[in-house]
Amino acid sequence: MKPDVSNREELYHAMVLFYDKIKEDELLSPFFGGQNFPFNWDKHIQMMCSFWENILFFTGDYEGNPLGTHKLVHQKMITQPIHFERWMDLFYEVLETHFEGDNIDKMKGHAQAIAKVMQQQIF
Ligand code: HEM
Repeated sequence: MKPDVSNREELYHAMVLFYDKIKEDELLSPFFGGQNFPFNWDKHIQMMCSFWENILFFTGDYEGNPLGTHKLVHQKMITQPIHFERWMDLFYEVLETHFEGDNIDKMKGHAQAIAKVMQQQIF
């Protein structure tokens, strides 16, 4: 039986595993700095922990705007359906390899729904 995520520390672990995959990914890594511009990974991962903590446990301090942020990401470097597909594939792969449970299912469902809305609003 694999663990679920039940607090920020476990979410942090999941986020590090996920963004390690993103960093290795040829298609997605250029969006996160690389040689293109500086990127603060620690700040990003902490923000993603707050984002998911809010969704799962209603305790995070996330006050960001994912849609607005992704419109800016898209202006800097065009995001296409293929990028969203890869993002979702890696997200599912990492979560399903290391975890299982209700909160993991919620994260997969939310990410899918958010990716859909982002694409409707961005393209
Ligand atoms: C094409 C796929 C995606 C790419 C390339 C991408 C890229 C990025 C980048 C570069 C940032 C940091 C922006 C910055 O700090 O300036 C960011 C932030 C974020 N991303 Fe994504 N993302 C993708 C899909 C998603 C999806 C499907 C979700 C759904 C959970 C998501 C959730 C977030 C959140 C919550 C933030 C923080 C937004 C804020 O500033 O408040 N992303 N993303």
